[in-house]
Amino acid sequence: MLEQVNQLTKDIEQYVVQHEADLEAFRLKFINKKGSVAQLFAKLPGIPTSEKKAVGKILNELKETAQTKYRYLTNQQKKLTQNTYPKEDLTLPPPPDSLGALHPLTLVKHTILSLFEKIGFTITQGPEIEDDWHNFGALNFPANHPARDMVDTFFVAKDPDKVLRTHTSSVQIRVAEQQSPPIRAISLGRVYRNETISARAHCVFHQVEGFYINQNVSFVELKQTLLYFIQGLFGPAVKMRLRPSYFPFTEPSAEVDIDCRVCTGQGCNICKYSGWVEIMGAGMVDPAVLKNCHIDPLTYTGFAFGMGIERIAMLLYQISDLRLFTENDIRFLKQFTLYI
Ligand code: DAH
Repeated sequence: MLEQVNQLTKDIEQYVVQHEADLEAFRLKFINKKGSVAQLFAKLPGIPTSEKKAVGKILNELKETAQTKYRYLTNQQKKLTQNTYPKEDLTLPPPPDSLGALHPLTLVKHTILSLFEKIGFTITQGPEIEDDWHNFGALNFPANHPARDMVDTFFVAKDPDKVLRTHTSSVQIRVAEQQSPPIRAISLGRVYRNETISARAHCVFHQVEGFYINQNVSFVELKQTLLYFIQGLFGPAVKMRLRPSYFPFTEPSAEVDIDCRVCTGQGCNICKYSGWVEIMGAGMVDPAVLKNCHIDPLTYTGFAFGMGIERIAMLLYQISDLRLFTENDIRFLKQFTLYI
C-alpha cells in the first residue's frame, strides 16, 4: 500500500498538462470516485485496526495532494485558454490613416497640364458628345472621305449628326471659333472609339490636345514646344524624333517618337525592338481648318498636337496592360506618386 501511495504521489507531482484533454484525464485518474486514490481508500476497511489511523492519514494526504495539483492545473489551463493579456501592444501609436492615392491617369494629367500652363497655354474643355462638324468636318475630313474611317466612330443612335468624340482635336475648333489669335490652348479629356478592349486598346480613353495660333508660328516652334514638354515629362536625356505622317487637319503632319523608356533604345517588346515608341501626332494647322474657324490663314499660322494619356502613363510607369486603368483594383491604384 505504501509503495502504491508513493508511486501515485510521484505520478501526481510529475503530471503535466499539454492539452485540455490531459486535465480531464488527471481528474478521472486521481480525483474521480473510481480513480486510483479512491480505489486505495476502498481498501481501508481491510487494513488492520492498529494501522488504520496511520494509513488513513497517508491516504488523506495523498487525496489532498491530488486535489491541490488539480486546482493548480485547472488554473494554469484557464490562463492559457483565456489568454488575458491583450494580443496587441496598446502602447504603440495607432496605424496611420491611409489617405488614398490619385489615379495614375490623374497624376499624368496634372503633370501634362502644369507643364503647358508654365509656357502660357490656357486649359479648355469641349463636349464629349460632339457634332459631326466639330469632330470631323471643320477638321478637314470631307463628307464620305475615307479619312473618317481612320477611327471607328460611335454614333448617337437618335441623332445621326452626333458622335462620341473620337479625339480631342474637336476642342481646337470650339476654341478657335470663339477666340481670336493669339490662342494657346490645351485640352484634356475622354474620347471614344469602337475598339475591342485588349491590353493595348480600349473603347474609352483620354487624349490631350494642344494648339497655338498666332502670326508667324513656325514648325520650329512646334518642335521646340514638344521637346520642352517631352523632356519635362521624361527627363532631359529623352530623345525625340519626328516622322512625316498624315492627318487631315495638319499640313505638314508628323508622328512624334521618343526613344523607348523601358529599354532606353536597346530594343524590347514595348518598342517592338525598334528602340522608339510613338507618343503623339502633330503638325501645322491646315489653312482650311483656320478658314473653317474664321481665322485668316494668310495672316495666321498655327501648330497642333494630340496624344493619348494612357500611353504616356504606361511609358512613365511601365504599365503593360491598358485595362488596369479601369479595373479599380486598389492594389494597382495606390502604387503611384507624381512622377516629376
Ligand atoms: N487627333 C489625332 C488622333 O486622335 C491626334 C492628333 C494628330 C492631334 C495630329 C493633332 C495633330 O492635333 O496635329 O489620332
